[in-house]
Amino acid sequence: MWDAGEAVYHLGFGESRFPTHPKLLRALAENANCRSYMPAAGIPELRRAVADFHSRQLGQKVDAEQVIVGPGSKALLFAFQMATAGATILPTPSWVSYGPQARLIGRPVLSIPSSTQDGHSLHPDKLRELLCQSPHDHHLLILNSPNNPTGAMLEPALLEEIAAICRRQNILVLSDEIYALTAYGRDHVSINSFYPEGTVVLGGMSKHLSLGGWRLGTAIVPSGETGRRLLQAVAKIGSELWSSPSAPIQVAAITAYGNDPELAAYIDRCTRLHAARTRYLWRGLSELDVQCAEPMGGFYLYPNFDHWRGPLAGKGVHTSNDLARYLLDTCKIATLPATDFGAPEQELSLRLSTSYVDLETDEKAANMMALADGPVDEEALMRDHHPGMKEVLACFRSLLSSL
Ligand SMILES: Cc1ncc(COP(=O)(O)O)c(C=O)c1O
Repeated sequence: MWDAGEAVYHLGFGESRFPTHPKLLRALAENANCRSYMPAAGIPELRRAVADFHSRQLGQKVDAEQVIVGPGSKALLFAFQMATAGATILPTPSWVSYGPQARLIGRPVLSIPSSTQDGHSLHPDKLRELLCQSPHDHHLLILNSPNNPTGAMLEPALLEEIAAICRRQNILVLSDEIYALTAYGRDHVSINSFYPEGTVVLGGMSKHLSLGGWRLGTAIVPSGETGRRLLQAVAKIGSELWSSPSAPIQVAAITAYGNDPELAAYIDRCTRLHAARTRYLWRGLSELDVQCAEPMGGFYLYPNFDHWRGPLAGKGVHTSNDLARYLLDTCKIATLPATDFGAPEQELSLRLSTSYVDLETDEKAANMMALADGPVDEEALMRDHHPGMKEVLACFRSLLSSL
């Protein structure tokens, strides 16, 4: 529709749009001539840099031997699911690829649904109940905090409780922490702090460094024999599927994981912008009485429109797919339907991503970034520089009042 010259409010893709940090651009350019195949688990210097970075972030010693890198955390998530036996437990709604990846390799998927009312948290009783009733001998639990699609974060006390259940039942946790450095609601805490022996921590450069297209993901396995064997299995899968992440990207990534204060300031700046923009849309929707969990990290909202089910049915809208289509047709707002995240068809929820609105071009994204050089006055930033976001809210307002 953009190509046809139509004005579409793009709340569909979850892609941080800010410009690449110049130090990383330089590091990549300087290493363009690295052209050899690399070790399947990653080059030793990068594994060491990632280990040191996570030692600081997790507050516990991580060795380079515990680190494996891959072409995006998505590829690593797939390899970890392939390397382990049993069923995958998914708190839903959940990111679009966990379930399809499991199904591609024939893994059963067990869902634990959450709702706006419970803040999209994972209730330990629901996990216990599911495990009691499960016919499977082995389970893998995938956690994602801060969360895509809900923007919610799991409380440390809750993580501790989940850790205790997983320890008792010997469940491996894949903790997808790709949004850890975009947390703004409160400090990010990893379940690894409570369950280091059974947690794989996944991350990468896609979100906080706006480098999705560079395709570099990381995983930290538990220390000791179990972790070593797991890493070996994943490295073998990687060796058969992708050999290793691209060599120049790996060398440039050493700079990205190098504890550089300038990069830390860049990450902080991007996070403050995501926070201001996402909270603004959340506040606006809340004023319209739309049910939506408060965002705590990343750039997502997961509003629910069940309240308008009757009048929407009158417009032919019965499912989240219908709703997404209706919004695109009537308001030119592109979103993703809740079914993409494993929610039941009839649940009238959508995922809204704030990452593109008013940042549609590289130039706009760079200008926005310049505005956050120093303390961000959220009100002024939204008032003076976000015409698209205001229009999106106005569209929702007129749509809901017409129902
Ligand atoms: C929750 C979540 N996990 C993983 C990924 C994959 O990221 P990567 O670019 O590292 O493959 C994404 C990307 O959208 C995501 O939202």
